[in-house]
Amino acid sequence: MNRLHKYIDDKLPGINAALEKALPKADMKPEVLHEAMRASVIGGGKRLRPLLVIMSSRACGGGDESEELAAGCALEMIHSYSLIHDDLPCMDNADMRRGKLSCHKAYGEAMAVLAGDALLTMAFEVLASGLAPEKAARACAILAKASGSVGMVGGQVLDLEGEGKKLELDQIEAIDKWKTGALITAACKIGGIVAGAKLEDIDALSKYGRALGVMFQITDDLLDIESTSEVLGKTAGQDAKQGKATYPAILGIEEARELAKDKSIEAKEALKGFSKDALMLRLLSDYVLERKK
Ligand code: IPE
Ligand code: IPE
Ligand code: MG
Ligand code: MG
Ligand code: MG
Repeated sequence: MNRLHKYIDDKLPGINAALEKALPKADMKPEVLHEAMRASVIGGGKRLRPLLVIMSSRACGGGDESEELAAGCALEMIHSYSLIHDDLPCMDNADMRRGKLSCHKAYGEAMAVLAGDALLTMAFEVLASGLAPEKAARACAILAKASGSVGMVGGQVLDLEGEGKKLELDQIEAIDKWKTGALITAACKIGGIVAGAKLEDIDALSKYGRALGVMFQITDDLLDIESTSEVLGKTAGQDAKQGKATYPAILGIEEARELAKDKSIEAKEALKGFSKDALMLRLLSDYVLERKK
């Protein structure tokens, strides 16, 4: 097993335990809502965004572990909410997520909308109460912007508007940068904030996150074409069916992969001012390029 996988295996139990603890128990009223929230977050997902918080914090010398985990949980809650809403019939209409039925398939549309809403707001509760006040305020502002109309939600709008259209490359880049890159970038920046990093380092982490985020969406789009629902744990082949405007759709598979490689190099270049403490972020950028799920 390589160093990155060992590192991830070492961190995942702590992340999962923190999520388990932060989420309301399934027997707490309203039970069905809490069950839907837990089913969508627990027991699935690569936890890329919490890992990025921890790795970015460590690249800047590290911070308080409970603050890293609180920030990681907040990011994962927002991400999980975005997936619940992304799967709704009015959006991507997907039946499978994280190896299970998607939230609306298991709990109905109304509960899926509400479980998403509750995860979104809970993320800010966890972030605001889990970090020292000054860091919490900065982190909340970053996360709110990255999640909203000029971040993830805005990107989802561009994604829907782009369906069935042959967009220019810069329009595809805007979709990926917003719908996926914004939260990934926020995870990196918030990791820096938890560690008390200087502004210059947070800027570098932000540059890394922007390149990694676009690369992550390109590889997601490639996997949608080249992998299977069984391996991915979510419905494959959706993008072509829905006429999604993606790099592979416009450039073809080979050129899209080349672009992902360029982004991986760009991501690593952003870290050149960091010491060996940023090794995991560097390795992660190679891993995202080669990932199989
Ligand atoms: C899927 O994200 C949606 C995108 C932003 C491309 P992930 O691939 O990180 O999903 P999980 O968290 O592992 O389920
Ligand atoms: C989703 O992109 C990005 C989000 C903000 C959730 P996709 O629609 O490609 O994600 P998957 O493939 O359904 O996970
Ligand atoms: Mg989508
Ligand atoms: Mg989708
Ligand atoms: Mg996809």
